[in-house]
Amino acid sequence: MYSSLLIEKENNIATLTINRPDKMNALNKTVLDELDRAIDELNADSSIRSIIITGAGPKAFVAGADISEFKGLNKEQAIAMAEKGQRIFKKIEDSSKPIVAAVNGFALGGGCELAMSCHFRLASENAKFGQPEVNLGLIPGYGGTQRLTQLVGKGKSMELQMTAHMIDANEAMQLGLVNHVTSPESLLERTKDILTVIQSKAPVAVGKVIECVNVAVVSDSAYTNGKSGFDKEVEAFGECFMTEDMKEGTTAFLEKRKANFKGK
Ligand code: COA
Repeated sequence: MYSSLLIEKENNIATLTINRPDKMNALNKTVLDELDRAIDELNADSSIRSIIITGAGPKAFVAGADISEFKGLNKEQAIAMAEKGQRIFKKIEDSSKPIVAAVNGFALGGGCELAMSCHFRLASENAKFGQPEVNLGLIPGYGGTQRLTQLVGKGKSMELQMTAHMIDANEAMQLGLVNHVTSPESLLERTKDILTVIQSKAPVAVGKVIECVNVAVVSDSAYTNGKSGFDKEVEAFGECFMTEDMKEGTTAFLEKRKANFKGK
């Protein structure tokens, strides 16, 4: 049914695994389309009460959007890509069934953004988090500028996005980006234990908790002429695609060399 996702159902919990381990589970068009469809299907499936999102293989949760698909995109196409990613991740955030990320390795760029769109996160000791888009002449486009700021506060969010530094699981826990750190072997089991507790509670009430907490963290659009932070992010992401630095950054990644930025 899915070419890039695996779905396992047990004890009313669906475990959705992004399955492109040879490409660090990078989010290409197929993965995003399948994720979109899978969330709808699982939300409509009355046998499922909660969802885990994780990555295949021992190295990566998701190492970002698929950089090879950035080539040749113009501003409008880049905006459409960001809008699509934001729409799918908002669907995850707005799901009335709990969706938890089990971060089993690199969660970079769109991978960190995917994890942050889940209701909360557990990480294995080998997990690494980061928003490395500035290395590519870009910014996060799937909600990362907003959700990272909501989760870790303005100063740390600025630093992490501007330096592109990766942080490990323990630092991510100190910052409030993840709730628990486990061994790689016990990551899924621990996540399921927490979901089993949640599943013993009243589902309507749990759904209302999600709705209300989500409202508490929405950005104040009064600041930006009626535009939300998410709108602003889409616009700025599109503008980055017009720059020479973005072409240089993405080409350098694919050619496995260091980028030489000119500020243009
Ligand atoms: N998009 C497309 N391909 C990606 C990718 C991405 N975001 N991340 C990894 N890959 C691919 C690599 O190109 C490589 O493909 P190849 O085997 O065909 O050459 C494969 O996945 C393995 O990655 P590799 O870089 O060789 O593994 P590594 O262990 O040396 O490094 C990472 C792992 C995650 C640190 C490194 O892959 C990386 O920096 N990825 C990009 C992260 C990023 O910038 N994400 C934000 C995108 S907006």
